[in-house]
Amino acid sequence: MQRVFSGIQPSGIPTLGNYLGAMRNWVALQHDHECIYCVVDLHAITQWQDPAQLAAQTREMAASLLACGIDPQRHILFAQSTVPAHARLAWIFNCVARLGWLNRMTQFKDKAGKDREAASTGLYVYPNLMAADIHAYHATRVPVGDDQRQHLELANDIGQKFNHDYGVEFFPLIEPVIMGIAARVMSLRDGSKKMSKSDPSDQSRINLTDDADTIALKVRRAKTDAEPLPGEPAGLEGRPEARNLVGIYAALSDTDLAGVLADFGGKGFVSFKDALSELLVAKLSPIASETRRWLADPGSVDAVLREGAGKAAALAGPIVSEAERLVGFLKI
Ligand code: TYM
Repeated sequence: MQRVFSGIQPSGIPTLGNYLGAMRNWVALQHDHECIYCVVDLHAITQWQDPAQLAAQTREMAASLLACGIDPQRHILFAQSTVPAHARLAWIFNCVARLGWLNRMTQFKDKAGKDREAASTGLYVYPNLMAADIHAYHATRVPVGDDQRQHLELANDIGQKFNHDYGVEFFPLIEPVIMGIAARVMSLRDGSKKMSKSDPSDQSRINLTDDADTIALKVRRAKTDAEPLPGEPAGLEGRPEARNLVGIYAALSDTDLAGVLADFGGKGFVSFKDALSELLVAKLSPIASETRRWLADPGSVDAVLREGAGKAAALAGPIVSEAERLVGFLKI
């Protein structure tokens, strides 16, 4: 059985983008994979986080994942900082990855913005830690949204360079698992920007905890154009906002763009948006109420994370110890 690893930052409330691009695929992969899922708090502090809020959001993210259907009995759910193997291997990878490779990372450029000198060094080496997360488990399949593709290519470059430098076949190749029509969900306010939990505008995203009225309002206000919906997917060309909303509808109703347009082609956005809100509420409100149920008993979430950390450490500890031995660290 192939081993799956993926992670999500506790840097805000999970969005519809996280759900469609990652979380629901994580749930689906549990049927025929051994899955390890991680709330990546080490990654979150590459940009300053309020400490009390970080701790709360780590627990909330775990609750959301449980609410989506992650099964902590058969699989592993834990917080990154509780398993030291990640940071140990990340240091080795800091010494394997090349500056030139990191300089090409588009996400660093986006996140650092104009004032690159003021970005943390952690933000710069962020992809090395991501590579360590995956390779610490010898995981081979990594379900992510489209925005993580470049980081996974780098993780393969790092694994292969380690193997080459130390003359071993130790780290396997990783296969990105980028699933479905909604691998890149865009902002509701700007069809050229991805929907993000850290966007300053709450109107740009659907949060998994939004109630029915909030969802309806955000969808009603979502940017569109003046034309009715086209009858065929080709008609969405050059209409990023329309493409995004139709893609969301298609993903949530398990169909494709053509299927949605067969029903809504020729209609205006008002009726389509009503239908989309209804579908969003039907799919997301059970997750929101299940999240609240977990959070009503924070101790139960912490217990899941504690048990997950034990299981994760038992897998990653020996792999990372072996990597350290291969590098030449004295094992006494
Ligand atoms: P993060 O926390 O930004 O996002 C978590 C997952 O959600 C996906 N995603 C999206 N998918 C579609 N449309 C969107 N608008 C959208 N926004 C986010 C992301 O692609 C991701 O799969 N670096 C990672 C976390 C990470 C990780 C790892 C992932 C740390 N270590 C190891 C895989 C393997 C991140 O910041 O995800």
